[in-house]
Amino acid sequence: MKSFYLALCFLLALFFLSCSGENEEGKIRIGFSQAMTNDDWRRSMNNSMKLQASMNPEIDLQIKDANYDVLTQIKQIDELIADSVDVLIVSPIQSKPITSVVKKAIKAGIPVLVVDRKTEDQQYTSYLGADNIEIGRNAAKEIIASNYNDSIRIIEIKGLAGSSPAEERGMGFHQIINQFNQAQVVATINGNWEKESVQNRLRVLLKEGVKADYIFAHNDRMAVGAWEVARELGIENEISFIGVDGLAGTNGGIQAVKNGVLKATVLYPTGGDEAIKLALNILNNESIPKNNILSTTIINELNADIMNNQFEKINDQQAQMEEQLAAIKKQEELYYSQNNLLKITMALLAIILSLAVYSVYSIFAIRKKNRQLVLTNDKVTVQRNQIEKIAKEVKLSNEAKLNFFTGLSHEFKTPITLILSSIESMSDSAKEKGSRMRNEVELIHNNSNRLLRLINQLLDFRKIEDRNFNLRASKTNLYSFSKIIFKDFEREAKKSNIDFKLTSNNESLDVFMDRNLMDKVYFNLLSNAFKFTPENGKIGITIEDDERSNTVNIRFKDSGIGIPENEMDGVFKAFFKGSNNRKNSSGIGLHLSKEFVEMHKGTIQVKSLHGTEFIISLYKGQAHLDETEIISEQDLVDSNIIDFSSEHLIDDNYLVQAPSKNKEKYSVLIIEDNKDLSQFLKNKLQLEYDIHLSDGTDAIEKAFETVPDIILCDINLPDKDGFEICEILKKDLRTSHIPTIILTALGNKESYIKGLQSGADLYLTKPFSYSILVQSIKSLLYNREKLRYYYTSNIHKIEEINSFGNIEQKFIHQLNSLINENLGNSDYSVENLAENLTISRVQLYRKVKAMMGISISDYIANIRLEKAKTMLETSSLTVAEIAYANGFSSPNYFSTAFKNKYGTPPVAFRKSV
Ligand code: FRU
Repeated sequence: MKSFYLALCFLLALFFLSCSGENEEGKIRIGFSQAMTNDDWRRSMNNSMKLQASMNPEIDLQIKDANYDVLTQIKQIDELIADSVDVLIVSPIQSKPITSVVKKAIKAGIPVLVVDRKTEDQQYTSYLGADNIEIGRNAAKEIIASNYNDSIRIIEIKGLAGSSPAEERGMGFHQIINQFNQAQVVATINGNWEKESVQNRLRVLLKEGVKADYIFAHNDRMAVGAWEVARELGIENEISFIGVDGLAGTNGGIQAVKNGVLKATVLYPTGGDEAIKLALNILNNESIPKNNILSTTIINELNADIMNNQFEKINDQQAQMEEQLAAIKKQEELYYSQNNLLKITMALLAIILSLAVYSVYSIFAIRKKNRQLVLTNDKVTVQRNQIEKIAKEVKLSNEAKLNFFTGLSHEFKTPITLILSSIESMSDSAKEKGSRMRNEVELIHNNSNRLLRLINQLLDFRKIEDRNFNLRASKTNLYSFSKIIFKDFEREAKKSNIDFKLTSNNESLDVFMDRNLMDKVYFNLLSNAFKFTPENGKIGITIEDDERSNTVNIRFKDSGIGIPENEMDGVFKAFFKGSNNRKNSSGIGLHLSKEFVEMHKGTIQVKSLHGTEFIISLYKGQAHLDETEIISEQDLVDSNIIDFSSEHLIDDNYLVQAPSKNKEKYSVLIIEDNKDLSQFLKNKLQLEYDIHLSDGTDAIEKAFETVPDIILCDINLPDKDGFEICEILKKDLRTSHIPTIILTALGNKESYIKGLQSGADLYLTKPFSYSILVQSIKSLLYNREKLRYYYTSNIHKIEEINSFGNIEQKFIHQLNSLINENLGNSDYSVENLAENLTISRVQLYRKVKAMMGISISDYIANIRLEKAKTMLETSSLTVAEIAYANGFSSPNYFSTAFKNKYGTPPVAFRKSV
């Protein structure tokens, strides 16, 4: 295609070149340096040159006018030489000054044709002009012939001194005159070819009394000028005037002869046309005579008419020729334009034809290409499908492997939790059984913990890869948080005699952090520090709160083996292992730490100089976090560390007292299909709680039946999953008030949200610490207890308290309206009330007991007594009337019950109001 366009462009260029009319190349370039153009003789010379040149289309004639200035003429000839004209024609103003530049042209290889006036040494190719000596002679002969016997006085008016015609005409004139004694030149005037140059001088001579019979002027213009002076003096008829040139036309010498102004004129032809012809001959290398003499003749009253007619004829012919030339030129132009049009048409036709051929060729080529493309496309599609299929298979198998691996890791968690919890119990008895046992238990404990951390790291890595982490930052005292983790490592520091320190310049600084994630970061950095720091070394955690900036730095510095300089860049990459690290390591701990810190919009850097230093920078405040990343309520998910912010601190004293010996124990329903775990929990918890077990198949029935004080529920269960069970129980009036803890190995975001949606109160991820589970149970029961206390002491306001769930609120509202509606009816029983609420008497009892900590009958009595108390305070009814109005069967029974509750009988109470 490209080559086709190139060929087309080439064709078009050729065509346009051929269209451009006359070609500059092949032209004959003639340069003419004209002395001046201010008189008719010169103009006639130029015209005849032009006419002759136009008859020869290949001649390019360039005329330069020196305007009587010798220096200008030299300069112009120089230009023509530089322009490398083919032939140079020169009509010099004066002979001498022009000589050298003409020689220069000859030297440059340009033939020079000198016309009219000559140069000094005659070093030119050729000369063309009339014989000026002959002209002078002719003029003298004319004078002598008509005055043969008389004495003749003559005034000679010369042309420009230094120009050859002036010299030669004078010479020829004197040659003849000198032969005749009666003829005498009485005065000579030096002119410059123009009449103005001689008139003054002539006037003076004539006025001085110089007598002349003849005035011979070297040209007609000066001769007529002389006549004008004579006429001015009234002596024009006494003198005969003879000039040179003999031009035709109204101002010419012939007309002056005819008019009687001049006696005669000597013909001096311009030779313009001959000059062009001669130039062509020179260029054609024809042999040319050095001097080409134009013929001359005397024109007087005898032949003036004939000459005039001749010249007029010549002029007419010239005019006709000019017209014809113009017509020819027009025809030529027409020819060129038509020729060009024809060429354009032909070229276009050629282009159209080649385009048509090319189109046909292209159609076939494109069809062929298309067929090839379709084939290639089919091949590519088949290959792509194969690749897609393989990729899908690889993805599926990868996914399956990863799921298997993740599932397996989850599976590990439950047994490890059991092992760890068992070890926790064993360690107590190990204390008593001597140090060997204690060491072994500690060994098992440490290694199980390590195993657990590794599994957690692997699962976290997967979660990070899947972008499945959700930051849950809460306001945390940084120093206290660090202190707790610091304490975990203190023992290890002591063992290796490591100088382990925690310092802070602002112990009360709070930051928003996800404690669970930052705990892992701290743990990882400190584990590494301890791993690589030898005995007697140093490890320090330094908290630097820069009050002027918005960040806090936490530095973990050790005096360990450090990291090689060239490996620093890779420290935070997954699976990194330093070349100087001989210890086992998963290689993902630091990678996870970086990810976790960056989830806080913080940074972590590493420096290694005499040990290693990790610097974590966190923003202070919460502006850098998203609203959804901040939790203001108590954390729902187990964070493996105790929530130590003051408002959440568990009142241990109260918890110890809570299940008092006199009172019945709280009941716990454990829904868990792993028998080992449920048995383990039962064994541990049954000291303090009544335990009910369900493997998940009868979970809901068990819950309705036992209405426990708290439910522990696994997620992965054989029948309904834990979320569904939780949702059903939370929506049912009978069980909706029961705090529910979900126990699961699923620690991802979706599960957490699902847990929230199902209404669970707490979400503990496996492995959970047993002590945290116990704390959590106690904490939930304590909260419930606090609520109960609050409700029972504010029974009249109970409906305004919004801490219960919707179902509870509705239930209490219904309960209270039924009780209030039947306040005056002493027959209205608990059975009637349960029936109206469409639950069983036992369920009503348990529900009210669980919510308010009192029996339903006490609750009804409390309402009645509260109401009665208000009436005692505000109404004027009698005590008996108030007793009956509030459903007491007798005023005495009312008085006893009132005294039991408020310490004073109703009558005394009224008096005290
Ligand atoms: C024209 C002219 C003529 C004369 C000739 C001599 O310029 O003055 O009148 O014959 O030059 O070169």
